[in-house]
Amino acid sequence: MSPARVITADEDKEDQNLDLTLRPKTLAEFIGQGKVKRNLEIFMKAAKQRDEPLEHVLLHGPPGIGKTTLAHIIAHEMGVNCRVTSGPAIEKAGDLGAILTNLEDGDILFIDEIHRLNRVVEEIFYPAMEDYALDIVVGKGPSARTLRLDLPKFTLVGATTRVHLLSSPLRDRFGTVYRLDFYEEEDIRKIVERSAKILKIKVHGDALHEIAKRARRTPRVANRLLKRVRDYAQVKGDGTVSPAIAAEALKELEIDRQGLDDIDRKILSIIIEKFGGGPVGLTTIAAAISEDQSTLEDVYEPYLMQIGLLARTPRGRVVTESGYKHLGKEAPASLQSKLV
Ligand SMILES: Nc1ncnc2c1ncn2[C@@H]1O[C@H](COP(=O)(O)OP(=O)(O)O)[C@@H](O)[C@H]1O
Ligand SMILES: [Mg+2]
Repeated sequence: MSPARVITADEDKEDQNLDLTLRPKTLAEFIGQGKVKRNLEIFMKAAKQRDEPLEHVLLHGPPGIGKTTLAHIIAHEMGVNCRVTSGPAIEKAGDLGAILTNLEDGDILFIDEIHRLNRVVEEIFYPAMEDYALDIVVGKGPSARTLRLDLPKFTLVGATTRVHLLSSPLRDRFGTVYRLDFYEEEDIRKIVERSAKILKIKVHGDALHEIAKRARRTPRVANRLLKRVRDYAQVKGDGTVSPAIAAEALKELEIDRQGLDDIDRKILSIIIEKFGGGPVGLTTIAAAISEDQSTLEDVYEPYLMQIGLLARTPRGRVVTESGYKHLGKEAPASLQSKLV
């Protein structure tokens, strides 16, 4: 198993099974993101008191951070159904029509990767979101006319890792927008602890810390690391995750003390060695390390910036002093002038 697989916050088949067991079902079980939770709680309570459907909600943030989980929690807390689909899955106006007309009042329609809706479909959403109406064209040519169908009063919950790609008419139609950010290390530790309990894995307190430190402040990565460490403990030890077993397993996965894997380190060292530490554009970096640009943008770069090893400047990405230090290198004197 390549270490990259552990780090990438994208979902895979294995995660989907893991998700079913580990995904918190209520807001109370959802760890961290205090501000988002407090706001959501009030927002849901108010809608319930008024006996109205929730306003449309947009959730954005890096992959693996809890967007899908929250969408299901909202449905659960509101006591309504959650219909799940994704931007690229809705190809034609007819697909959307079928989904919308099958909803019930109050239902949640969860659209993952909402930035990937196509234009035609997106425009049908505008009256659907605003007036709960679906405009359909009947007939062809001069006799064509538009019929307006009433839709159930649904709530759209959209999720995206690329909020800047959303058109402003779509964005403006969401009543509330929540940004989910990387977690505090202590919250990740609690998440690992909770998952270990559910999966009945015995984990030493220090081992919990060790896993949490390297999980890129991302719940999905934390759960995946826990699973890898458990496998290791089972094969190499008696199944208990001791600090020594955790350290060994994490070393085997080539994840360093800040949660960086070989691709992260490659990104930093290529910018330093090939591009004098930057500034250099994302496309150029992607080409130099033969990685997909969107993975670089969604998974690698946000974390490297979050922990301060990489900086974004108007002229491109620059490795910071901490970035040089992390690789055991000395930052050049010219670095300061690049960062402004
Ligand atoms: N706040 C949280 N508390 C506990 N577990 C969480 C939390 N957020 C996410 N998780 C776990 O991480 C996994 C990935 O979260 P998910 O909602 O699928 O992320 P996203 O949709 O943002 O990519 C979930 O299955 C869940 O087990
Ligand atoms: Mg998701």
